Amino acid sequence: MKQDITDQDPIFVDEDKLGKKVGEGTFVEVFDTDKDYSNDKDYVIKVGSRSSLTLPLTDSFDIELDRKKVGKMLKLIFGDSMQIMPTDEMIREGLAEYALIREYFAGGDEVEQRDALIKGLEDHTDAFTKEVCNLYGSGKDQQHASILESIRELSDENFLPQEKTKIGYPPGVSKEDVLRSKKEGSNLKTTYYIFQEKVGGKDVIHLSDLTDEMLEEHRDITKKLLLFALLTKKMYRDTGKLIDTRPEGIMDKEWFQNTANVVVDLTEERIYFIDTRFLWDKEMNILGEKHLNIVEQLGVKSVDSAIQKYANILSRSRSL
Ligand SMILES: Nc1ncnc2c1ncn2[C@@H]1O[C@H](COP(=O)(O)OP(=O)(O)OP(=O)(O)O)[C@@H](O)[C@H]1O
Ligand SMILES: [Mg+2]
Repeated sequence: MKQDITDQDPIFVDEDKLGKKVGEGTFVEVFDTDKDYSNDKDYVIKVGSRSSLTLPLTDSFDIELDRKKVGKMLKLIFGDSMQIMPTDEMIREGLAEYALIREYFAGGDEVEQRDALIKGLEDHTDAFTKEVCNLYGSGKDQQHASILESIRELSDENFLPQEKTKIGYPPGVSKEDVLRSKKEGSNLKTTYYIFQEKVGGKDVIHLSDLTDEMLEEHRDITKKLLLFALLTKKMYRDTGKLIDTRPEGIMDKEWFQNTANVVVDLTEERIYFIDTRFLWDKEMNILGEKHLNIVEQLGVKSVDSAIQKYANILSRSRSL
């Protein structure tokens, strides 16, 4: 399933085709479009960007910048060579992380990790199973048996929207622009575009807006969230990589349950993980040895407390 980008001809994207801008993150700008790019489905288009730039003057001078504003300014001073764009290496790393995410969350025919999760949870002596059971609290055995049952039912559930990555020139760049700059001896830099199936409808909300009452009412959603959280925990245990559930509020300590990267369709009772190009790494101790390791202290802990919550809500319900 690995997607290769090396042999693609860069695409051209008309700015008018992008539709309304609905988000701007660290790595992408997100546009909502009603245009149909492949199947009969609505898509969002995510355009790769990079807002952090290390200036050549000093290695340690890393600052957060507004890509567009600074891009324009630097372009005026330095010309096209200073455009702030993702490098090929960044794009390839992103695709490798997406391939790993698919192994755990795609469902369908790609359920090796799902099977391994279920098999592991069937073994009471397994260290992972013990860790999970410790999260439940009292009545562990009974609770574990029913949870296993519902996970088995969901063994091929897909948590990812369809998506495709393409390399392309930045929005608005035309064939003429490319030809002109080639003549002038410089190559225009490319970026990447993710065409991602849009999760839409009137009852689609961010996980952060899902209340306890909704979790009680929509038990199928709670079961799916429990499986999703267990897969997240397993992936971290297997690989040291954690999917990004950091909430929008930077001070928010509870990551998983407050994320906008998981969207919930209350009508279809489906959940989707939509932010598929960045993984936290166990070794990424960005605040230094002696300080808080945010990946463990905030990220991983929040997955555990989500598992605890969903399992308890399900065991309070009449039947799982
Ligand atoms: N496939 C999708 N369907 C519906 N809405 C989406 C989809 N993808 C993104 N969105 C909306 O856009 C918001 C931002 O998208 P996304 O999480 O991919 O990027 P980001 O968080 O802005 O970027 P970054 O990860 O670089 O910080 C989401 O929280 C969601 O509201
Ligand atoms: Mg996001």
